[in-house]
Amino acid sequence: MEQGGAGSRRRARGIALLVLAVVSLRALHAEAAAITQSDFPEGFVFGAGTSAYQVEGAWDEDGKKPSIWDTFAHRAADQYHKYKEDVKLMHEMGLDAYRFSIAWTRLIPDGRGAVNPKGVEYYNNLIDELMTYGIQPHATIYHFDLPQALQDEYNGLLNPRFIEDFMAYADLCFRSFGDRVKHWTTLNEPNIEPVGGYDLGSLPPRRCSPPFGESCAGGNSTTEPYIVAHHLLLAHASAASLYRDKYQAEQGGQIGVTLLAFWFEPATRKLEDVEAAARMFDFSVGWFMHPLVYGHYLPVMKRNAGTRLPLLTAEESARVRGSFDFVGINHYGAIYVVVDLSKLKQSPRDYASDAAVKYITLPFQSSRNKHGLGMTNHPAPWALRKLFEHLKHKYRNPPVLIYENGAGHEPDPSGGFLYDDRFRSHFLQDYIEATLLSI
Ligand SMILES: *[C@@H]1O[C@H](CO)[C@@H](O)[C@H](O)[C@H]1NC(C)=O
Repeated sequence: MEQGGAGSRRRARGIALLVLAVVSLRALHAEAAAITQSDFPEGFVFGAGTSAYQVEGAWDEDGKKPSIWDTFAHRAADQYHKYKEDVKLMHEMGLDAYRFSIAWTRLIPDGRGAVNPKGVEYYNNLIDELMTYGIQPHATIYHFDLPQALQDEYNGLLNPRFIEDFMAYADLCFRSFGDRVKHWTTLNEPNIEPVGGYDLGSLPPRRCSPPFGESCAGGNSTTEPYIVAHHLLLAHASAASLYRDKYQAEQGGQIGVTLLAFWFEPATRKLEDVEAAARMFDFSVGWFMHPLVYGHYLPVMKRNAGTRLPLLTAEESARVRGSFDFVGINHYGAIYVVVDLSKLKQSPRDYASDAAVKYITLPFQSSRNKHGLGMTNHPAPWALRKLFEHLKHKYRNPPVLIYENGAGHEPDPSGGFLYDDRFRSHFLQDYIEATLLSI
């Protein structure tokens, strides 16, 4: 994770020397010297991250009720019962920070109303355990796991009532844990949940309409992704302003939002492909970054989506603009694209066709091996550097925390303790080096 902002900018000059030293080491030795934690500026934080539905398990224990992800999948680790062992392992790994998410339905089982004391107790225990080892807790308030009760009652994210219920839940989180949690993320990837959940229908709550997605029970891929993103943007801004008004002075923490940020690279050098790549980045990251920094949606999104893109009122624009202390970035690689203007002639159109690009390569490749399905992502550490450059120039150099990066490559488990994990090891080294060079 990168701790950005004024502090690291002040150190930038010192770092330039360090970067030169690293570069010349590389020139001297065919095998590059491994970068270590001590090469980074003081205060730079290394950590690892999870989300509640991936690691907690215990989906129906101690008063917890289902989220829309419990309806979708149940496989998880068992951190709810094994948090002490997990935190000990984090300590042994030398982590400075742990990013986790809070399960809304563990704290407030029906989404709104009564608080579950066992849920509050669990997160108090987890946070206290982290504090014991000096590991910073970085908490995500909402990581895709909307209470099923709110989905059933009013269609969840499609209804502006979500904003009010989210604020009450966030308020409980700040009040209960803000004495120890100094890094809050309101939402994880609000720029992909609307696409997976409401355009393609591949993620919960699995809404879509033909021809854009298949076998959805209901939905409208043309309009719903924009509505859902709008409500998420307002929910983030509302919770951030609540935190700033009511808690920040006393608790002294920071609040941000975390976006999925692939880098989009033109597959040719043709001008229209270069423009298409920039447009795709705008549709994906600019969808949120632009209103967060400037208070309005990008003109290209207004142009291509027309009235399907909701308007930000003057009051909403003021609430959204500047509503973050840092931006969380989840970065997994580069996607090569070319222009496809024929998509703008389609009727009806969805979010994906509004961007008018065609994907040429994906950063992931799935492969079958004797153990099942593996996923490999292609390392492209240069893309991380381009991403940082872009954020710096287009969005006024916001403080950035890299909250996700890594490779889903599966090691061969037949080797026992000696399995070959060089792919992932090199992957991480290369991305850590790209981060250091970016500083
Ligand atoms: C989606 O909503 C738009 C705007 O209300 C409407 O024109 C269109 O017919 C809807 N599509 C579907 C599949 O319901």
